[in-house]
Amino acid sequence: MQTHEIRDRFTQHFVNAGHQAVPSASLILDDPTLLFVNAGMVPFKPYFLGQQNPPFPSGTATSIQKCVRTLDIEEVGITTRHNTFFQMAGNFSFGQYFKEGAIKHAWSLLTGPTDDGGFGLDPERLWVTVYLTDDEAAEIWEKEIGVPAERIQRLGMEDNYWSMGIPGPCGPCSEIYYDRGPEYGAEGGPEADDNRYLEIWNLVFMEFERGAGDKKGNFELVGELPQKNIDTGMGIERVACILQGVENVYETDLLRPVIDVAEAVTGAVYGKEHESDVRFRVIADHSRTAMMLILDGVSPSNEGRGYILRRLLRRIVRSARLLGAQGETLGRFMDTIMDTMTPSFPEIAANRERISRSAVNEEKAFLKTLESGTALFDRTAAGVRESGAAVLGGHDAFELHDTYGFPIDLTLEMAAEAGLEVDMAGFDLEMKQQRERAKADNKAKKHGHVDESVYREWVDNNPTVFTGYSELTGDATVIGLVKDGVSVTSAAAGDEVEIILDATPMYAESGGQMADRGTLTAGDALIEIRDVQRVAKRVSLHKATVVSGGIELGTTVTAQVDGGWRHGAQQAHSATHLIHAALRQVLGPTAVQAGSLNRPGYLRFDFNYTEQLSDEQMSEIATIANQAVDADWAVNTVETSLEQGKAMGATALFGENYGDVVRVVEIGGPFSMELCGGTHVARSSQIGPVAVLGESSVGSGARRIEAYSGMDAFSYFSKEAALVSGVASQLKAKSSDLPDRIAQLTERLKSAEKEIAQLHQAQLMSRTGELVDQATQVGQFTVIALKLSDGISAGDLRTVATDLKGRIRDRAGVVVLASADAGSGKVPFIVGATEQAVAAGVKSGDLVKLLGQYVDGRGGGKADLAQGSGSDAAGVDAGLAAVRDALAGM
Ligand code: ALA
Repeated sequence: MQTHEIRDRFTQHFVNAGHQAVPSASLILDDPTLLFVNAGMVPFKPYFLGQQNPPFPSGTATSIQKCVRTLDIEEVGITTRHNTFFQMAGNFSFGQYFKEGAIKHAWSLLTGPTDDGGFGLDPERLWVTVYLTDDEAAEIWEKEIGVPAERIQRLGMEDNYWSMGIPGPCGPCSEIYYDRGPEYGAEGGPEADDNRYLEIWNLVFMEFERGAGDKKGNFELVGELPQKNIDTGMGIERVACILQGVENVYETDLLRPVIDVAEAVTGAVYGKEHESDVRFRVIADHSRTAMMLILDGVSPSNEGRGYILRRLLRRIVRSARLLGAQGETLGRFMDTIMDTMTPSFPEIAANRERISRSAVNEEKAFLKTLESGTALFDRTAAGVRESGAAVLGGHDAFELHDTYGFPIDLTLEMAAEAGLEVDMAGFDLEMKQQRERAKADNKAKKHGHVDESVYREWVDNNPTVFTGYSELTGDATVIGLVKDGVSVTSAAAGDEVEIILDATPMYAESGGQMADRGTLTAGDALIEIRDVQRVAKRVSLHKATVVSGGIELGTTVTAQVDGGWRHGAQQAHSATHLIHAALRQVLGPTAVQAGSLNRPGYLRFDFNYTEQLSDEQMSEIATIANQAVDADWAVNTVETSLEQGKAMGATALFGENYGDVVRVVEIGGPFSMELCGGTHVARSSQIGPVAVLGESSVGSGARRIEAYSGMDAFSYFSKEAALVSGVASQLKAKSSDLPDRIAQLTERLKSAEKEIAQLHQAQLMSRTGELVDQATQVGQFTVIALKLSDGISAGDLRTVATDLKGRIRDRAGVVVLASADAGSGKVPFIVGATEQAVAAGVKSGDLVKLLGQYVDGRGGGKADLAQGSGSDAAGVDAGLAAVRDALAGM
């Protein structure tokens, strides 16, 4: 039974039982806790938790969800039950049927006759497991279904209790296994051998909510869900493996064709030898996963999802090379996997070109890297072996990474194949040192010096309290003064110092928002603050110039933020959130933030995306952002835990290291919700207009949008408007008529240019009419050999010569022209010969060379036409005479 049919039967079975069929969600859901959707229930999470009502009238649903799990990527092909991409078929009940219903539904589909839409599995081969204390489920299996007690096994938390691995819905589960027979392993049920007994379906009785802890059952239950639910997952690939009678999931109808192509491309044979077989399976598995990821908008990069994709693609390329492939292979693998997957995922058809291009580009880049890196690796590995050692140095691994872009896992794999180990501790150390160097560099730029030990005391004991979310002014005590990297006790007029206060309303640069500007005052002391930077995320350094008076430790100062500056920075920062939200609406959730900058009136936002945005997309983004301004939404901020913030759906950046308490900034409810420590306007209308300037590439799969906000946006628009009306008045047209007017002008210009060219041509031709009269007979040839002294160009020379040749084509004629225009310093010349002249032995190329000798020039061409250029106009006459002589002697 083909996979496609297995899918259809599953859906039909549950639709017949009243379930709503729900299409698969994208592999990338807006859930920052998950890299990829990894179970069928993920899109339904809010319904299980009771946060939202399920929108299904029957309260039941069925889906076949695309899933990706890439945790144990190295295991692919070695064990043969796991695919990195798989399709999880599930049925879901939200407060409707429970254990008995779930068990009966599953059993009737698995064992139902194929003529009746079932899978026709032999009930004698099915085993089940239940959670240790789940007597209820065990009893249903035994009494209601009739599974003999000896084929019902009880297992603990680790096996038979399911959660997403993070706080959320969970519950005991019951799994159904298929006995593949003694050739696959030992007797004794799933408890004894999970290769012989293949798990095909997991039924989760979702009734509790769990807290923090790991997946393996080490977590606490924090409560009951509002209702009892069912979540199940049947592995389409595994059922296909059984129904198609193949050895493993890599050999089903969807993947086997890729292995066949890999045999053809590499010349190696599948099924002969374990090591090669693993490589074939890696190619098949990863080709599919990579293809499905690109389909859902992921592009290869060095971080997060993009990095996983890059790793998959590179592993395919390397596996194919190791099997003997030369040159590029990914294009063929992608074509094949797209062919097999399209019946189940028709959306592939419209994306074929994009998918291939993305994969093939990555392959091209990687092949280059691989070549140079592999050479280095081989040399190093040989050196290690010669010296009798078995460990590749951490420094070498680091160099492969740093200079050749070798991911460490690739080095590890190559080392393992070469029978070597890698000094990982050494590698980690080098990586750490490099990170520290980079950090120090960055800090040096900002603080002016790298050594932060001088701030240690405040970092440990007196973190700065930030009051600037609600205040722009406030009194504070000077608790630290640092001048040129040294702690001091006072500062006087003219000093440049860093000032540490116990509390400050001044925002220190972070999260892309520039630092506040402002003043500190105390009595007659006036201090200007140019910048505020944080040390260790805890202490704000006010970079200050003492304008007048003086301060010392203990002085009470009044800190005053420059309100205009702050207002502008807030407008830009809030506008950035709107642009981010608009981008995700227009481009989808893969347009993940990669960096940003907000300074008063201006913002810049970088995001991961490989393609250039169209004018329509840009205008849509600008429109959505300005509509959000116009909606006058309240901008709300709440402080909460990171987990809660994410649960609320706030967008967080991967790899960002947020503190325990995070701020969620929300504009317009679900429209925009981000984890953000910045300062914002109170209502979206305060942002003022947002003028999107354009977008550009910032390299390696990221793009940048720039925009003005507030009055800067207004100035931008009004300058543009002034420009347009200036042009309009110059052209004496209304601005709305400008496009037509300019089109007309361009059209007129074009036809005028054409006319000029025609006139010029006519002029040249009339000239050739005169020149032909100057033909003379030289031996057997009619020769037109002339010096033209009116600055005729090489191109025109050719036109004239060709025309003259045409006029004497019925004779043995030779045309020799040289332009002797003193002005340009160039002497172009040309020789043309008619057919008869060529037949008589004239070689224009030779004549051009001859002429060239007299004018200090060179040239060449064919027998019938040759051209050259020289620099000595004085030799033209002698050169023409030499050509004549040559012709006379033929
Ligand atoms: N959610 C369950 C699983 O992923 C069905 O196994």
